Amino acid sequence: MQAADQKTADAFATSWNNLPQGSVYSTEQVEDWFTPLTRNDLKGKDILELGCGNGSLLVHLTKFEPASIEGVDLGSSLTSCEANMKQTGFGNYRLIKADITKYGGSLKDVVYCIGVLQHLKNPVEGFESVLRNTKSGGRFHCWVYAREGNAVIIYIVDPIRKLASKLPWWVTKFLIATPLVVPYYFYAKIISLSKVFKKFPLYEYSCWISKREFSFFRHVAFDQLVSPQTTYINKKTIEDWFDKYPEVDKSSTYLIFRNGNSWKFGGKKK
Ligand SMILES: C[S@@+](CC[C@H](N)C(=O)[O-])C[C@H]1O[C@@H](n2cnc3c(N)ncnc32)[C@H](O)[C@@H]1O
Repeated sequence: MQAADQKTADAFATSWNNLPQGSVYSTEQVEDWFTPLTRNDLKGKDILELGCGNGSLLVHLTKFEPASIEGVDLGSSLTSCEANMKQTGFGNYRLIKADITKYGGSLKDVVYCIGVLQHLKNPVEGFESVLRNTKSGGRFHCWVYAREGNAVIIYIVDPIRKLASKLPWWVTKFLIATPLVVPYYFYAKIISLSKVFKKFPLYEYSCWISKREFSFFRHVAFDQLVSPQTTYINKKTIEDWFDKYPEVDKSSTYLIFRNGNSWKFGGKKK
């Protein structure tokens, strides 16, 4: 039987498999995504990424000297991931094609899931997998699109996504994402110049993304539009997840609003 998220993974593969080799992220972006986890929290650890795409995070992770790396994805983006990981020269990694909601491997010191739960048919099943694959005493870390702070995206971009995700990927990338992102590119570059604009929509996010070049803006826009499934997750949902699972060590949890439109959250497993 086909996994509920297979279509989503196939769609993302059209994004990941049509990029230049290497990571799409800068080291600064990756460190920011991992925070509050520091390089020291990752050094010497067995680490699992659930939904690893083309390995854009894993490539940077190799520089933080983990003991081992495992990456799981349901899509054929693992082909690009393998090519990217080979280039790093890091030997101790394993890439596995699997549905993260069903996946159970050897337990890890650190399990993270960045930019994936929001695209699952059942996001909570992804969170359960994060916990299931973490060692007792180990750490877990996730990042999702927030419901809060994303009105412009939810009411303008999301209706376009529902149509665009049904079209051939190259139509979505070159004929929809590219022209749509041009005005946002200039908007972000301008409003990030001064705090005078801090009340403008997507101000904080624009300050973050405006450090990057146009091709990164386009990659993000295409990623948003190509996905057949996206859920914007609110704070209460994450708090409920923390409460629901007794294996979450409540004294260790964090829930951080990032760039005014996303949530980073995690903690330790009992
Ligand atoms: C937006 S990408 C994020 C990739 C990577 N974590 C990053 O931040 O660069 C989402 C990834 O989740 C994968 N994915 C979606 N549903 C999945 C599932 N049920 N099992 C495994 N991977 C899945 C997609 O194939 C895609 O590569």
